[in-house]
Amino acid sequence: MSRAYNFCAGPATLPEPVLRQAREEMLDWRGTGMSVMEMSHRSDEFVEIAETAEKDLRELAGVSDDYAVLFMQGGASSQFSTIPLNLLGDKTSADYVNTGIWSKKAIAEASRYGQVNVVASSESSGFASIPDQDSWATSADAAYLHYTPNETIGGLEFDFVPESGSVPLVADMSSTMLSRPLDVSKFGLIYAGAQKNIGPSGLVVVIIRKDLLGKALKITPTMMNYQSLRIMTPCTTRRRHTPGTSQAWYSNG
Ligand SMILES: Cc1ncc(COP(=O)(O)O)c(C=O)c1O
Repeated sequence: MSRAYNFCAGPATLPEPVLRQAREEMLDWRGTGMSVMEMSHRSDEFVEIAETAEKDLRELAGVSDDYAVLFMQGGASSQFSTIPLNLLGDKTSADYVNTGIWSKKAIAEASRYGQVNVVASSESSGFASIPDQDSWATSADAAYLHYTPNETIGGLEFDFVPESGSVPLVADMSSTMLSRPLDVSKFGLIYAGAQKNIGPSGLVVVIIRKDLLGKALKITPTMMNYQSLRIMTPCTTRRRHTPGTSQAWYSNG
């Protein structure tokens, strides 16, 4: 068998032992007689897989109990709207740094929900450098400060973590997550589309400081509300779920 050298930004080559293990477990996941793709996402077996994934991620990325970890659908792009919906709260504006294509998409989407202040931009220089933080026109009253540590397409990467004072720092770490040690405590929210560094496309990992939960705007769809998702996560609902009663699954009891 000849394997391709695939250095794409993501997905890229996976280690062969990982692929072999997946192949071995494909027909029979640990004696259940079925593959992971065939089992209920509410079964004990799957809940254990989800719990292990969260535990491993917490360990690898150094995520403390002060943060909730959410595995959400819709890729990193869906977070461009999910973030303002959840974090604007009673504030009217959010600060954004524009360093390339992904920042611009995040800015465009957030502008639907509140006032977006582009506090720094390197667009006039063709996104060739990161504006010096001393020049950023940030506001102490912003709901959050959003930036993109690594602009995957343009290749522009921050070599520092911005200072945001008491304003929560939000980072699109799609191309950064798990590539190096991270001081999570500097961030209010980290999100990362999985397909670059973590797993399959369509999944997005959200790591949110727990005190930022519960501020969602009324118009936020339930499945985009971090607080309700946290309650619905299989790991937290398993022991409260009565089989056959989907109502119980979706209640926050
Ligand atoms: C930095 C960054 N943000 C957001 C995205 C969009 O991610 P998704 O395709 O998961 O929506 C990408 C690329 O895929 C990216 O590189």
